[in-house]
Amino acid sequence: MTTVLGKPGTDGLGEAVRALREWQHDGAPAQLHPGDLGWFWRTGPETTAGAVRTWSRNGRIRAVGLLDGPGLLRLAIAPDALRDEETARRMAEDITAPERGVLPKGRADIESPTGALLQDLLSEAGWSAEEPWTPLRRDLTGPVDDPGLRIETVGPERAQLFTAVHRAAFGGSSFTERRWHAMAAGAPYTEARSLLAHNARGDAVAVVTVWSAGPGRPGLLEPLGVHRDHRRHGHGRAIALAAASALRELGSSSALVSTPSANTAAVTTYTSAGFRPRPEVRDLHRDE
Ligand SMILES: CC(C)(COP(=O)(O)OP(=O)(O)OC[C@H]1O[C@@H](n2cnc3c(N)ncnc32)[C@H](O)[C@@H]1OP(=O)(O)O)[C@@H](O)C(=O)NCCC(=O)NCCS
Repeated sequence: MTTVLGKPGTDGLGEAVRALREWQHDGAPAQLHPGDLGWFWRTGPETTAGAVRTWSRNGRIRAVGLLDGPGLLRLAIAPDALRDEETARRMAEDITAPERGVLPKGRADIESPTGALLQDLLSEAGWSAEEPWTPLRRDLTGPVDDPGLRIETVGPERAQLFTAVHRAAFGGSSFTERRWHAMAAGAPYTEARSLLAHNARGDAVAVVTVWSAGPGRPGLLEPLGVHRDHRRHGHGRAIALAAASALRELGSSSALVSTPSANTAAVTTYTSAGFRPRPEVRDLHRDE
């Protein structure tokens, strides 16, 4: 039996999401989470389906890839396939040959779980390490401190305000109300929450979306931001605590987040909300 590359189409996206959920467990290396797919879903189901690739053997998905930007492929691999030679070789071939329709010719980056045999194969083929990212994890066994701000769980009627605060946190963002609705209609959002924090004056100051992967599994924060006019008042820490608390209510065993190591503000914010940095990870890069 060989591993085969597939494009799930909108009908097959649910199966890819289920696979991504199953592969999340505490102690596993950081890898593509169902919440990453959920966040991408703001582009609509067709665009999302067009950006997903699967590798299957015996009819079972063994790896899922998301084309999360020009030339950027982010991968999750089933734990029992991480070091499987046949799967790794097939994936490396499919990824590096533009005619297979995974990555286009030229510059490209690949994020894959630490320890995957695929990383060894790509490094041997000349791919080089990119800038470091810091994954962080917060255990959710114990209680989470009160954030000290009013936290609202956002529904459709507040999507406009939620996305306005998001855009004020992320310069250049194109996250609109329409895109929030597309995201909320996606399969991963059935286990997600959008949270909006208000300061004592009643201003909407910070946003986060949290994604559960099911009870007893790690959940994800993606994305988290504080309005540019309201930074350095502890709201980043507060919304990170609110996110952890919401994931705990959803039954998550831990909360995960990842940020470029150079984003000192984000690393410090998550650390002050009880997240612990894990070893840095790096994408693999090819110039041409
Ligand atoms: C990162 C971000 C959320 C921080 O929000 P914030 O409200 O300013 O953070 P807080 O006031 O809660 O600060 C939390 C901690 O981070 C530190 N911190 C915040 N901004 C910092 C900066 N620019 N440089 C260094 N430290 C910083 C604070 O001193 C504080 O540390 P302490 O708890 O040890 O005292 C905010 O800058 C932001 O939205 N950035 C753009 C979006 C982004 O990068 N999101 C995260 C990536 S996933």
